[in-house]
Order: sequence, then structure tokens, then C-alpha cells
Amino acid sequence: MKTEILEQSYATYFNAKPEFVVRAPGRVNLIGEHTDYNDGFVLPMAIDRAVWIALTPRTDSTVRIRSLDLGVDSVFDLRSLTQGEGWIEYIKGVAYELQRDGYQLRGFDAVMTGDVPRGAGLSSSAAVELATARAFASVSGFEWNAARMARISQKAENEWVGVNCGIMDQMASAASREGYALFLDCRTLEYQHAPLPKNTAVVILDTSTRRGLVDSAYNERRSQCEEAARWFGTKALRDVSVDDLKKGDGLSEVVMKRARHIVTENARVLKAVEAMTSGNVKRLGELFNASHASLRDDFEVTNEALNQIVECAQDQSPCYGARMTGAGFGGCAVALVEGKNAHEFADVVSTAYKKKSGLDASIYVCKASAGAGVIEVFKTLGTGF
Ligand code: GLA
Repeated sequence: MKTEILEQSYATYFNAKPEFVVRAPGRVNLIGEHTDYNDGFVLPMAIDRAVWIALTPRTDSTVRIRSLDLGVDSVFDLRSLTQGEGWIEYIKGVAYELQRDGYQLRGFDAVMTGDVPRGAGLSSSAAVELATARAFASVSGFEWNAARMARISQKAENEWVGVNCGIMDQMASAASREGYALFLDCRTLEYQHAPLPKNTAVVILDTSTRRGLVDSAYNERRSQCEEAARWFGTKALRDVSVDDLKKGDGLSEVVMKRARHIVTENARVLKAVEAMTSGNVKRLGELFNASHASLRDDFEVTNEALNQIVECAQDQSPCYGARMTGAGFGGCAVALVEGKNAHEFADVVSTAYKKKSGLDASIYVCKASAGAGVIEVFKTLGTGF
């Protein structure tokens, strides 16, 4: 479907057929929130919403790309990249970091589209970054290494775009496998594919609230975590155990709360992976609920809408557990629900949330999708035919 739209649009803009269509997904994090920049564990899952790019290599170093969703074009030269503003910066940033890492890039002509809601905490920017990396790998002919591409994309976001994110979103978009969540050690970038429990559905609940100043609140949490790690004499909070927290007496109350969230959240991720492996859905749901309470009370990154939607979800009998997901302060929650009742659950929560908050939620029953990949290679016919 997307491929057809891309093919037609590509023909309209470039009067030709594209050679490749690449795709990279957004993600929802099941558990392990704010642990990535503490060298900890996370368990995200790539979702069935993504960014697609249809493209053909050029013989020079020009990149021409049309965003079908924004209705705008952008052109830049790989040899003279300069920082500017807007959506194209994610693409230029990845091009810049790939080249800085030694990759020889070819230019391309492209059209791009996507259906990851922007600003909702489902990593639409990581999807653009990884789709860009996948596009360059296809036209420039280099091998795809998920962890390396995720690191480069994260660097583009940190340094070129100027957003201080961790590695989770890029790794989820780069390395996920269809039907599985990604259990990732953010210190080593080692990962395993964790099977989603049978007969369950993952439901994303978008509160429709967005908060400004997320960056400054996020950076504040990061520095509080660093302060706590220094206090415990460790490289990162990953190295602090639940028992060690008892020795945290001298820390300020607020920094202690931040540390407690990270340390207990890391432990919850490990327990969640065990629960998934043994198919213990009830236990997994309890861990979701405990994670939300910790993010609300200790890490203090929920807002009223997130707490309300999570309560509405937890009140429903088909729901095993629910929690906020992503950076917080607005955006989405995620619920683990009995598969056969997922759509009914979505309707009931939507009505209950409207009643409680006066807001309209967007609710998606989603599937665990594959990470970044080439989804179509069109064979061009030689002129001899
Ligand atoms: C954002 C960041 C991630 C991660 C989450 C919180 O999504 O981009 O790196 O820190 O917040 O878990």
C-alpha cells in the first residue's frame, strides 16, 4: 500500500521508478523507562507504524528528498552540510555522522512518507533517522550493522539536532524483530528478542497532551541520575542494587527518589523478561503497574492526563497492566491486554478517559514489527531491452 503511494509519487516528482523502498519503524517502550541513559535495561518494541523512503542513487553527492506528508522538498550536498532548521535536519545529521564515521555516501533522489504520530513519544524522529541510514546503506552499498547505525543516528540527534536522548529509540528502530520485543542492555548494546505473550495485545493510549519544555525536564532528570551515581561511587546507576539504596541516606530526598526509580526499574525489566519467557502475563502486567507508580511518585514524569488514562486502563478487566511510556510529561501510555478483547478495551477506555479528563484519546492496538529494512528492490531494465 505504502509502496504503491511512494512509487506513484516518485514517478510524479522524478519521472522514473525508484530503485529501493526502505522502512524504519517507531517504537513503544514496554518497560525500562529513563534507564537507557543510566546504562541500564530497556524492553521496547518496534510498532507497525513507520517511515518509508523510496529512492534511487545519483551519480553525484546531491540529496533531493520530498516529504509527502509535509508537502515540501529539500536539497542538500553531502560535501557541504550546514545546520539549519526543520525535519530535514534529522536526515542531514545522519548523513553528517555517517561520513564522520568513515562511510562513503552517494547522493539520491527520494520521496518519503510516514505514519508515526509526531510528538507523541513513539519515536518518529528515530524512525526518520534509521530510515535515512537504511537509505544510505542501500544506495552506497555498505553493510547494515544495527547497533552501529543506531549509535550514529543517536549521535545525529544529540549533536546535529541538539536533543539529548539515550540509545533506546534508535536501537528499537534498528534491531527489532517481528513479533518480539527487544531486550536491550544499554551499556553493551547486546540484545535478545523477547517473545510477546500469546493471546495478548499491546495497546497504545495517546492522551493527546503534549508538554513543552520536555527537553529541560529530561536533562534535569539526567543530571540528577548522574549526581546519584557519583554519590554511590559508580559509573552509572546501573551499577547500584536495590540493597545499595539503603546506603543512600546522605542524598537529597529528590535525588534519592530519582535513583530509586532507576534502580527498581532496572530490576523490573529483568523480571519482565523472565515473565515473558515463561508466559506469565499476569506478572508482566503487575510490573507495568509498578513501573507507572514509580514514574509517577519517584521519577515524577507523568502528568494528570497520563495518570488518568492509566487508571482508566487498569480499571478494565481485560487489562493486565498499564503504564506511561516514553519520556513522559504527556504523550502516550501502553497497556497489555487480552488479545480477543483489545478493540472493545480501546472503546471503553476512550469513553472513560473522555469522561474523566474531557480529552479525546487516540488508541492503537499495535503489532510488534521488524526493525529497519529494505522492503522493495525494483529491478531496472537495461537499455538493451
Ligand atoms: C525518550 C528518549 C529515550 C529514553 C526515553 C525514556 O524517548 O529518547 O532515549 O530516555 O525518553 O525512557
